[in-house]
Amino acid sequence: MAESMKGLHRSHRCTEVSNKDIGKAVTVMGWVQKSRNKGGIIFVDLRDRSGLLQVIFEESDIGSEGFKKAECLKSEYVIAVTGRVEARLGAVNDKLATGDIEIRAHELRILSEADTPPFPIEEASRTKDDLRLKYRYLDLRRPDLQRNLILRSKVANVARQFLTGEGFLEIETPMLTKSTPEGARDYLVPSRVHPGSFYALPQSPQLFKQLLMCSGYDRYFQIVKCFRDEDLRADRQPEFTQIDMELSFVDVDDVIDVNERLLQKLFKEGIGIDVKLPIQRMTYAEAMRRFGTDKPDIRFGMELQDVSEIVKSCGFGVFANAVENGGSVRGIKVEGQAEMPRKRIDALVEYARDFGAKGLAWLSINQDVSYKSSFAKFMTEDELSALVAAMEGKPGDMLLFAADEDETVFAVLGNLRLEIARSLDLINKDEYKFLWITEFPLLEYSKEEQRYVAKHHPFTMAMEEDLPLLDTDPSRVRAKAYDITLNGTEIGGGSVRIYQTDVQEKMFKVLGFSREEAYERFGFLMNAFRYGVPPHAGLAYGLDRLIMLMAKADSIRDVIAFPKVKDASCLMTEAPGSVDDKQLKELGIKISNAPSI
Ligand code: AMO
Ligand code: AMP
Repeated sequence: MAESMKGLHRSHRCTEVSNKDIGKAVTVMGWVQKSRNKGGIIFVDLRDRSGLLQVIFEESDIGSEGFKKAECLKSEYVIAVTGRVEARLGAVNDKLATGDIEIRAHELRILSEADTPPFPIEEASRTKDDLRLKYRYLDLRRPDLQRNLILRSKVANVARQFLTGEGFLEIETPMLTKSTPEGARDYLVPSRVHPGSFYALPQSPQLFKQLLMCSGYDRYFQIVKCFRDEDLRADRQPEFTQIDMELSFVDVDDVIDVNERLLQKLFKEGIGIDVKLPIQRMTYAEAMRRFGTDKPDIRFGMELQDVSEIVKSCGFGVFANAVENGGSVRGIKVEGQAEMPRKRIDALVEYARDFGAKGLAWLSINQDVSYKSSFAKFMTEDELSALVAAMEGKPGDMLLFAADEDETVFAVLGNLRLEIARSLDLINKDEYKFLWITEFPLLEYSKEEQRYVAKHHPFTMAMEEDLPLLDTDPSRVRAKAYDITLNGTEIGGGSVRIYQTDVQEKMFKVLGFSREEAYERFGFLMNAFRYGVPPHAGLAYGLDRLIMLMAKADSIRDVIAFPKVKDASCLMTEAPGSVDDKQLKELGIKISNAPSI
């Protein structure tokens, strides 16, 4: 039977009690982690979000009624205990913050009984993900998840304080809105009042924050939910949170400056890490050339080498043809791995195929400087030596090469580099390496849509010196866009915006929107620009990703209270679900056969 807590007030959280309180009476409340009856004396580990505290029950302190109650205690019962703080009688437990004290109970109330949970509530759970997510409210009791969410709350709070201190205003933007331009699919909400019409949930507050600049708010921020219907991965969720900002009368360096100081503060106050400023910057072109990706993990080397010039007329057709067809041949050097077993090499070839490789050419340099290789037979000794020299290969090294279109070569080697570093344990997990990536291409050609699409979004400004290329060679235009990456993950991105109507109209044209289409979708922004618009720029962080990295969590799900799984469903609430016919009727919606995806 649930007892009332009438007359009792919690005086401390469990780990707020310390040896300074010895001799004092305290009242603590929480969940029974574990109860051990040693005959005549009962030990209970009491848990709340702060941690554990040992309580002891003896009949001489609590009376026979109270002791009987204590005998009934089971894991996850919610109890209130009043008692005296004492130095621990038994061995001190160094692992616990409260390991040198205990509470000698003289009053116990059982506030709630509990069924046996479907899995143990403990650190580093080995319970299957699906079960944990179904009972998320229990999973969330576990100390590792509690630490993550506490860190998340703290970081959000520090961000708020910092940005407010820098003159940013926190302003909310609508959730029921029109389609926004971040390039993913929208989540749609049907309108009852306008049958057949839909709101779109925002993929980001992009248009609204730009409008706020037009309205003179100068510096805006928001910690805001965004919705994107895209394929989920370990670092993506259909709804996620951004720390979003926009600033007026600024250029790239101003945005970078305020954000570097923000990151420094978040990492210091969040996890005690000192971020050295300024953060390194690298152009997109350099990042691709050296690492094969626009979000390089620079905690280790193994950089890509372009050997196209060396092999363009060699006897190995795969190499020569790739260069001839406008692609390239590039390699990475895996130091000390010449003895890599054949099975492992085959596994790497298969891994490379996942990223579009047609094959992976390898060459290992034996200690006697002879070679073992999948392609040596096609090349002369001189050609091989030149190739090894270009790679700075030494006896004991393994060289891996991809030959293809640049895009494929980068994808293959960029990912291979990561896979090999992970498997050889080359990455220092305690290091935090930030990197700004700048000068992104403004546009990329979509083979699927047969047109240019904006790489960031259509409101991103070109680098002034590249503007003329918009008419002649759009693919070469660089943008005033920047991403901030950490240990190989993109944690944020932004750009300087177009504020000149003529440039914006040209951009829409290059993107293949007619003037009418552009105005139909974004007319309110274009119109706003007619009434006086300041130059502006902004950036948004993925808060979930940021916390995931700070907490060293394996998945973004571990830093979100109620996350979704891969197919965007929630295993606890079973959302999405069907709705009543009445609701559908009101919305004027008929369900045809559900399309299969
Ligand atoms: P962008 O689309 O780059 O920029 O998003 C900003 C950051 O949000 C995070 N993010 C995600 N996190 C979890 N799940 C997702 N599905 C997801 N998608 C994105 C990433 C990313 O860096 N309006 C622009 C910002 C601007 O230009 O100011 C925008 O949304 O960490
Ligand atoms: P083959 O002549 O097909 O037996 O290929 C010889 C070697 O070249 C094998 O190790 C293949 O995996 C490798 N190879 C094939 N295509 C490519 C490619 N596009 N890039 C790199 N290596 C390749």
